Amino acid sequence: MVWSPNESGESNASRVEVPLGERSYLIEITSGAVDRFGEAIASSLEDMTHAVVIADEAVDADWAEPLVKSLVAVGGENPIRVSKTSVPSGEPSKSIAQFEKLLGWMLDSGGDRRSVVIAVGGGVVGDLAGYVAASFTRGVRFVQVPTTLLAMVDSSVGGKTGINLPAAKNMVGAFWQPSIVLIDTEVLSTLPDRSYRSGLAEVIKYGVIEDAEFFQWLESNARALIDRDDAALRCAIEKSCRCKARVVGEDERETSGRRAILNYGHTFGHAIEATAGYGTLLHGEAVAIGMQMAAHLAIDLKMADRTLLDRQNALIHACGLPTTFENADPDEMLPVMMRDKKVAHGKLRFILPTEIGVVDLVGGIEESAVRRAITSAR
Ligand code: GLY
Repeated sequence: MVWSPNESGESNASRVEVPLGERSYLIEITSGAVDRFGEAIASSLEDMTHAVVIADEAVDADWAEPLVKSLVAVGGENPIRVSKTSVPSGEPSKSIAQFEKLLGWMLDSGGDRRSVVIAVGGGVVGDLAGYVAASFTRGVRFVQVPTTLLAMVDSSVGGKTGINLPAAKNMVGAFWQPSIVLIDTEVLSTLPDRSYRSGLAEVIKYGVIEDAEFFQWLESNARALIDRDDAALRCAIEKSCRCKARVVGEDERETSGRRAILNYGHTFGHAIEATAGYGTLLHGEAVAIGMQMAAHLAIDLKMADRTLLDRQNALIHACGLPTTFENADPDEMLPVMMRDKKVAHGKLRFILPTEIGVVDLVGGIEESAVRRAITSAR
């Protein structure tokens, strides 16, 4: 069965392939098609008999319910059994307790090896439900239906799934690729402004790490993006997903260093999030400030010139994101950074830009320079 995102059969979807051999999959970018996603899922997973929907409670009624209805409708003579549950919004849901609860619920719902997990929500639900999918009966198929901009352009693509330990974010998990990622920009209509802008930080990241032309396009279209203009948004999502798909296709498990470029601004950003107190700053806000710290470090190390920092600063501002963190404290942030998964043999490594569109993975940096980069953002 060939799925089309609108009744007329005309496709208004953009498709991006994540090239991973037999684990390759499509990202479909549409508008106003959630109530037809059941068809899309059934057409890419033709033998699906049991769908297990795990939704963020904040989007359950608006977006998970229409999706469930479309799954029920699509079965015809061979109905698909659909089980649905929701989890509280926010990072605390990425816990061992919630993970265990969902596995128990799947078992009670009659889940088996052929069940398909469908994550409907932002990065928290995608990571959590993905890890449930990776673990239940040693792995079942799963589908990502991201409902935040951040999840659309980053976390729903590339197969990183997992949960947090009380002392360390994303410390437990698995690489488990989805079978398809279904993006509908209409779901962003219920996303609060602050969370929407937070997603723009990851979009800017792609411009800095890989694509100077896209960065320039963002400079010209920041207003349209802030206004959630659908054409601009779809273009930004597609460009971001293409970049992510290319990088993941080249280094799925982050072994060659290529995938690590996606963490530009994140080593600082994670430490900002942790020291500000989780929930004080959104992930994208912390990444925006972290990118400023990283750009500052690159200039300090004479790897890049000042224009880079100025252009990045202006774009982050234009997207309504913060560039400073008044409580930036190297004594608090450095110990958190040392627990980062990119630390190799006790040495910090950073993704640093040399020009817009080009980054390097750099190690062996003096602690004093890292301290200066942190305090530069106060
Ligand atoms: N968010 C970084 C990655 O997926 O590798």
